[in-house]
Amino acid sequence: MQFPAEPFKIKVVESIRMTTIEERTELLKEAGNNLFSIPAETIFIDLLTDSGTSAMSDRQWAGMMTGDEAYAGSRSFFKFEKTVRDITGFKHVIPTHQGRVAENLLFSLIANENTVIPSNSHFDTTRANIEFHKGTALDLVVDEAYQPELELPFKGNIDLNKLKKVIGEYGKNRIPVCMLTITNNSGGGQPVSMENIREVSKLLKEAGIPLFLDACRFAENAWFIKTREKGYESVPVTQIARELFSYADGCTMSAKKDGLVNIGGFLALNDTELARQITNYLILIEGFPTYGGLAGRDLEAISIGLMEAQDENYLSYRTSQVRYLADLLTEAGISVIRPAGGHAVYLDARKFYPHLKPEQFPGQVLVTELYRHFGIRSVEVGSLMFGKTNPETGEMILPRLDLVRLAIPRRVYTTMHMNYVAEGLKELFKNRAKAKGLRISYEAPVLRHFTARLEEIV
Ligand code: F0G
Repeated sequence: MQFPAEPFKIKVVESIRMTTIEERTELLKEAGNNLFSIPAETIFIDLLTDSGTSAMSDRQWAGMMTGDEAYAGSRSFFKFEKTVRDITGFKHVIPTHQGRVAENLLFSLIANENTVIPSNSHFDTTRANIEFHKGTALDLVVDEAYQPELELPFKGNIDLNKLKKVIGEYGKNRIPVCMLTITNNSGGGQPVSMENIREVSKLLKEAGIPLFLDACRFAENAWFIKTREKGYESVPVTQIARELFSYADGCTMSAKKDGLVNIGGFLALNDTELARQITNYLILIEGFPTYGGLAGRDLEAISIGLMEAQDENYLSYRTSQVRYLADLLTEAGISVIRPAGGHAVYLDARKFYPHLKPEQFPGQVLVTELYRHFGIRSVEVGSLMFGKTNPETGEMILPRLDLVRLAIPRRVYTTMHMNYVAEGLKELFKNRAKAKGLRISYEAPVLRHFTARLEEIV
């Protein structure tokens, strides 16, 4: 079946309220056209992120009740540790309260002003944690990743020639680790192939450099390997996951994605000495090694969620739901990154509003209009998030693409919700010529998109 029905029935519901266009216009004014400043209660469908927004299953909720809250040696920790070991094969499992803490722990110990850390594409928090320690974060994704409409199965792959060059230039003394983000969030949620992981691992082994996976969406990546890579059609996803981790020396994980929980993460690795140092630092910043900033009940929910995320009926539905929305938009002539990613649909805002200049934030215009007219929240991944203003000339330095991400929370919205989003976008697309550009009236010196205020150019 091309688009399987939801493989669950709904036991608990949460009401969502539709506000009026007048209310939302007023709220946008108060928020300076920044959707991060809008009360979530006034949002009908929230596609800001797929992180920490999953619906937990009845089994996970049952697990919450049986969580062991012992400070040290909690039963829930041992279950969690066993689950993570079974999935990844890594020796040491260190719980953290979310993914960026796993990154902080790792890079606090291995990154400094001499280090260069390559990846297909670093996620913002990974890059920020490397740069905070004065290291250099390099994105070496294949060039095809920058061609939104090019339909290829593994646009998240790292470019092996670029990687060889970087290894040749800096060598093992300056590269403490190479990362691979699966799936590649910053590049449209595109997967990495098993062949690419295998070859990256081989190259790194020859050079004596460890490989770490940023594994937040490992199950979605494994599903794409099963459905798109020759030879894996009949291999169970759990086995694919195990194989892909087998090529790595460790991973960082935000369980808020493929752990199907609202909070949690971990770091897992084979290097005993590094694990010891990280654990000591963990005690300083997160907590004792058998809870790492989480409650015992959270550890229970993660253990169960990690297994449910590898259920093939779930993964088939999950990726199909994202593809369903992408296909509806493509059919309507709206330009999106193809093929659809694992967790989100990315709209090409420069194509949506060709009359707006990139300096006028076409992505943010689309985000505000989608909320104003339909109560839908999305997020701009473009000139506002990544652009910079030259303080001397006032000139804007712009990124290659202006995208709008519609991230789909896991098991939260139904197909009819997807239809509603598509209908809304089609309506906006029909009236696109009326849209006006935006300009910044306030911006913070770093990570400006979270707090910037924008006004309409009249
Ligand atoms: N790595 C990737 C690939 C991510 O997408 C995220 C979070 C993190 C690391 C950090 O994990 O939030 O648990 O600290 N991504 C969210 C998003 C925020 O909206 O894409 P965290």
